[in-house]
Amino acid sequence: MSTVQDYIDSNIETFREQLFDLLRIPSVSTDSIHKPDVKKAGEFLKNQLSSIGLDKVTLHETAGHPIVTAEKCPHENQPTVLIYGHYDVQPPDPENLWDTPPFEPTIKDNRVYARGSSDDKGQSFTHVKAIEAYMKTDTELPVNVKFILEGEEEIGSPNLIPFINENKELLSCDMVLISDTAMFGKNQPSITYGLRGLAYMEIHVTGPNRDLHSGVFGGAVDNPANVLAEIISKLKGEDGVIRIPGFYDDVEPMTDEMREAYKVLPHDDEEFKSDLGLNALHGEKGYSTLERASARPTLDVNGLWSGYQGEGAKTVLPSKAGAKVSMRLVPDQHPDKIAKLFAEHVKSLAPDTVTVEVTAHHGGHPVVIDLDFYGLKAAAKAFGDVYDKEVLFSREGGSIPIVADFKKVLGVNSILMGFGLTRDALHSPNESFSLEDFHRGIKTSARFFEVLPDFVE
Ligand code: BES
Ligand code: MN
Ligand code: MN
Repeated sequence: MSTVQDYIDSNIETFREQLFDLLRIPSVSTDSIHKPDVKKAGEFLKNQLSSIGLDKVTLHETAGHPIVTAEKCPHENQPTVLIYGHYDVQPPDPENLWDTPPFEPTIKDNRVYARGSSDDKGQSFTHVKAIEAYMKTDTELPVNVKFILEGEEEIGSPNLIPFINENKELLSCDMVLISDTAMFGKNQPSITYGLRGLAYMEIHVTGPNRDLHSGVFGGAVDNPANVLAEIISKLKGEDGVIRIPGFYDDVEPMTDEMREAYKVLPHDDEEFKSDLGLNALHGEKGYSTLERASARPTLDVNGLWSGYQGEGAKTVLPSKAGAKVSMRLVPDQHPDKIAKLFAEHVKSLAPDTVTVEVTAHHGGHPVVIDLDFYGLKAAAKAFGDVYDKEVLFSREGGSIPIVADFKKVLGVNSILMGFGLTRDALHSPNESFSLEDFHRGIKTSARFFEVLPDFVE
């Protein structure tokens, strides 16, 4: 094994340069201008997987962005690990808030700054390099390995879901390994065993057939921006409780056991507040910050527009107003059902002075993984060995929609072994990833494949 780990140590500079090449590709999946770039990132990874000597390396075209698969399956009686990652990234905007260009990886304090550095190019590349270490040192892989890398995670994986359904044989495996989450703190390895689901909605309110002079018409014509604000204010109470009828019907109540699992996690509300520059926190009564942010559902406005946004003042009664609203879901809420309840409720709140349209964007199912799964135990052993610290298990508030489908369609659990940190600024300006965690991530991945056979039940 030391040859594998030594190979990683002696090639880390090259790995870093290769990651930087991947980070230079602006693979923004939501922006059609970048469609060729998303493909370029897929091809980059395809070439990587080919050059390290994997079999059946394929770039599958889809109706959207491509999917890359590959495998090395030398064993008949060892488990097969399917490694999932995404090479698409969120848009870099607002670009003026970046200290260095988002697609020009820049090192500062042993961190690399670039869009996608942590989410998810840097994290998922660790596994490519770990497998390379086995292949290039002629060390037999202890287990079977498959890869599935997609370019549409940040837009809800619309083409991956059908792809999995159509390629069950190609993707058959015993577990999925994913590095696309955060650790519980610096030098504190942790495995995520729960993710929230998502229902993402858009509201359009239309009033008069054109923008009006707010002095000439104001008071006699209803204002879509005011109406939208009123609707939004009715969706969630000041107590943090969502006021959509039926919203909580399928929410799994927290058991004592679930609450105990939260109590062992280190968290300090004062630190949390000061890190975010807040005077006070907010949320549902009776739940801790960690519970509110991962075990309870929520509703947030993600975008809001209407009227005059430029410099100075313009007296206008806008014709239209709009909002993007997302709801994070927990077991056993169903994204389609929640989307329907939301649309019905928003429409019921609309006065007849305006028209209100509600549409649904992508969604995703929540997941919780059984802590008894042997793969989680193997991952905890490997992670703890490399970081020399006992691993924590936590649920997280973010979403990776495909995890629920891996369970439903392929019947397998996912191991969420993230190497990121909350401070990585995912989706924000100045996203970054620790180069030390990139290095330790590769070593952890290699170690995981080594110890996994010992844990098979
Ligand atoms: N990697 C994140 C999800 C994540 C981050 C989970 C940190 C846990 C901790 C992923 O790329 C992501 O951003 N997912 C989206 C969902 C998607 C449908 C847009 C999200 O959670 O907003
Ligand atoms: Mn991600
Ligand atoms: Mn993301």
